[in-house]
Amino acid sequence: MSIQIRSLYKTYTGGVHALQNVDLDIATGMFGLLGPNGAGKSTLMKILATLETPSSGEVFVNGADIRTQRQQIRSSLGYLPQFFGVYPQLTGAELLSYIAKLNGVPRRNLREAVHENLAHVGLLEARDRKAKTYSGGMMRRLGIAQALIGNPRLLIVDEPTTGLDPEERIRFRNLLTAISRNKVIILSTHIVGDISSTCEDIAILAKGQVAFRGHPAALIAQAAGKVWQVLCDEAEFPNIAGRMQVISTIPKPPNLLLRVVGDPIPGYDMQSMPPNLEDAYMHFMGSVVGQRVEEENGVVE
Ligand SMILES: Nc1ncnc2c1ncn2[C@@H]1O[C@H](COP(=O)(O)OP(=O)(O)OP(=O)(O)O)[C@@H](O)[C@H]1O
Ligand SMILES: [Mg+2]
Repeated sequence: MSIQIRSLYKTYTGGVHALQNVDLDIATGMFGLLGPNGAGKSTLMKILATLETPSSGEVFVNGADIRTQRQQIRSSLGYLPQFFGVYPQLTGAELLSYIAKLNGVPRRNLREAVHENLAHVGLLEARDRKAKTYSGGMMRRLGIAQALIGNPRLLIVDEPTTGLDPEERIRFRNLLTAISRNKVIILSTHIVGDISSTCEDIAILAKGQVAFRGHPAALIAQAAGKVWQVLCDEAEFPNIAGRMQVISTIPKPPNLLLRVVGDPIPGYDMQSMPPNLEDAYMHFMGSVVGQRVEEENGVVE
């Protein structure tokens, strides 16, 4: 299973350039998509899920052309949209059964497929309750179950962990890792930690363009020597926050303990810290992408 994306552009009516010249090759395994709000993540995923059409460019899913071979792609596709809605009167089991039929699961395998997928996401006990009575986290899990049904070889999950509690998030991560063999799983998230432990290959989208592509370790390496811990008092906070990116603030009365990213400010006792993926993402977005935008706008000194 593999995906080739070449010179992909998407401009929505109204003139928003959601994707601009995207080139990506995605191979079997987990692929993480990061990027700020409006970067184009959902647009890219909808195109791969055959629900939006490109303005120009080419996309091949296992050799099948997204423009002309939609049915073929759909038959091996599972998709969890960012905003997942269901028929509220259906029970969890009814909904899965319905989706399974749409996905071509043979009648004789329906019961088993529904059971197995509800069990995967811990919803067996709620199988006969109407979806409208589910909590937010349960709805999310139902969404994941419907994307997994029929054992798709391409699984696209858009912000799948939003609304899940930490325990469920870890369980979901483990589930994805367990099923990722022989599949392409494309996962978008705002929670950088979800990607650091599961994905060996990531891309960062910024303003519709691929700003970074590679192993998380390569992104982390770029932030080496840029992450610091510093104890300051509240009066000093604005000065630091104005010149560096603040990752976290922990009150240590009467002081604040900050984790910051950037070049250290002389006069402060800053302790160097090893970067994690979240630091690296913040550093990348602030320095690399920020600088590129400034250059485009002609404001670099
Ligand atoms: N149907 C649409 N019509 C017009 N513009 C759209 C449409 N869908 C998305 N956009 C615009 O395209 C851009 C990319 O949106 P997209 O939803 O792909 O971003 P995203 O990276 O998924 O953001 P988020 O992290 O908030 O989910 C945004 O500027 C958005 O407003
Ligand atoms: Mg989105």
